[in-house]
Amino acid sequence: MSLRRIAALFAPYRWQLAIVTAVIVASSLVGLASPFLLRAVIDTALPGRNVRLLAWLVAGMVAVAAVTSAFGVIQTWIATRVGQQVMHGLRTRVFGHLQRQSIAFFTRTRAGEVQSRITNDIGGMESVVTSTATSIAANLTTAIATAVAMAALSWQLSLISLVVMPPAIYLTRRVARLRRAITTQQQRELANLNVTIEEGLSINGIQLAKAMGTGPSLVRRFTASSARLIDLELQSQLAGRWRMASMSIIFAAIPAVIYLAAGLPVTAGAVTIGTLIAFTTLQNGLFRPLTGLLNTSVSVISSLALFARIFEYLDLPVEVDDPLHPVPVDPASVAGHVRFSAVSFSYPGADRPALDGVDLDIPAGSTLALVGETGSGKTTLGSLVARLYDPTAGQVTIDGVDVRDMRLSDLAAIVGVVSQETYLLHTTVRENLRYARPSATDADIEAAARAAQVHDLIAALPEGYDTMVGSRGHRFSGGEKQRIAIARTLLRDPRVLVLDEATSALDTETERAVQQAFNALAAGRTTITIAHRLSTVRDADQIVVLDHGHVTEAGTHASLIADRGRYAALAA
Ligand SMILES: Nc1ncnc2c1ncn2[C@@H]1O[C@H](COP(=O)(O)OP(=O)(O)O)[C@@H](O)[C@H]1O
Ligand SMILES: [Mg+2]
Repeated sequence: MSLRRIAALFAPYRWQLAIVTAVIVASSLVGLASPFLLRAVIDTALPGRNVRLLAWLVAGMVAVAAVTSAFGVIQTWIATRVGQQVMHGLRTRVFGHLQRQSIAFFTRTRAGEVQSRITNDIGGMESVVTSTATSIAANLTTAIATAVAMAALSWQLSLISLVVMPPAIYLTRRVARLRRAITTQQQRELANLNVTIEEGLSINGIQLAKAMGTGPSLVRRFTASSARLIDLELQSQLAGRWRMASMSIIFAAIPAVIYLAAGLPVTAGAVTIGTLIAFTTLQNGLFRPLTGLLNTSVSVISSLALFARIFEYLDLPVEVDDPLHPVPVDPASVAGHVRFSAVSFSYPGADRPALDGVDLDIPAGSTLALVGETGSGKTTLGSLVARLYDPTAGQVTIDGVDVRDMRLSDLAAIVGVVSQETYLLHTTVRENLRYARPSATDADIEAAARAAQVHDLIAALPEGYDTMVGSRGHRFSGGEKQRIAIARTLLRDPRVLVLDEATSALDTETERAVQQAFNALAAGRTTITIAHRLSTVRDADQIVVLDHGHVTEAGTHASLIADRGRYAALAA
């Protein structure tokens, strides 16, 4: 598949890679002098007792070693930097791209899967990405240079050495395929492990596990995943070891064959002893770059499995995206007139629409209350205003502008959502509130908390606003978290509000506090309230009854009571 695509990742670093290649070529050329120096030592300097020449030759050998080692350091430094930067680029691209994915992606993806790909898969590429380019360049030049030198020494002996190539290449291809399949399984298993960690050791997961007594079975699942990983790694390592063993045998056989060839009556005397020794030394030196190249091709091919998993994420289309030509709107001066025109929406794969031909007109600054049974589409309707999803048909407009034509950042500034589930970050209460508006002063934060009826509660915490909320805010009750969420939304000061109230779970005392907070929040804004208790609906400017995605009744409390329909029956 995507060797070209992988190469493209390195394109921005072509200069660094060119330098690395040049360093490697230079170093191999310098290294090539060694066997010729050796031959001169054995055939000329030693027999001729030429001490001066011998001293020069030996000094030359040391110099060659020094220069090639220095080149090696430079090359490692540049190559590692390039490799790390490529990984950094991939990591940030995946993070940025997934960040833009719609809610639909996250509802269908297992918690833990995404982390696993960003950490395990990209981490697994590390060695490949940092070493492949240099390994290819280094081994290829060494191999070619060595081969040339061998041919220069004796082309006949070189031909004999060539017989090892076909079996070596054949073995390598087989191992590479095997490893690639194993790598795919390994990464999948690592993701499973991560999912089990997420499901077993996150705050929600552990609560469920303790409540259900499923701890032991989670441990078993984890143990099984972990054991499969051992198995896979063993398979992967062994696949390589057998090949290495067979190759070593083949390579070891060549010098033997060469000595034999040199000593046969027909050929005897054709090569000098110096040539023979220099040749076998070279030939030994060929073994390393060749196995290096073969190993690199194995790791590149098996890493295709990792790249495939990462590219799969990078190729996900962004369903809810910034428009190509956004309509300029100023969030500060938007009035907040929300309209639904013939809006229908179906969840992917659902057989019936969650919303079907909904028309609503919510004048700026007015309140609309949505009532209806669970599953009637209330939450869905709210999410369309914030563009968590796009309608399948029809349009949602704010001040006459389709929300799909607004910049996402503008829309986020205009529409605020307080949902039934509140997510708090693992930091202080103050920072959680400031997350909504980084420029907020401590006084702003306190004012918002007061309006949301949560200041007294926060002030009573051991460290007040600097208390850590803990993982996902589990130290707070549902009503408390919701009021913190309200304070957060107050800080953002959106013109349009969607409130998915969950006051039904609260006791009357708390409900009153939360309701007051909601009222403070709603004042002067266009508000869509999803009401779970009819008591909170009475004063809304409009009340809309949803049933299976259809608007079945609409009016004020008084008019709906007078109509004696569903609402009247519910309110009675
Ligand atoms: N992410 C989703 N994927 C598929 N179906 C969904 C999803 N969310 C909600 N639904 C379905 O859409 C319908 C409306 O749901 P929702 O808007 O949450 O109702 P309400 O908030 O009124 O209880 C329900 O039938 C529900 O099962
Ligand atoms: Mg709902």
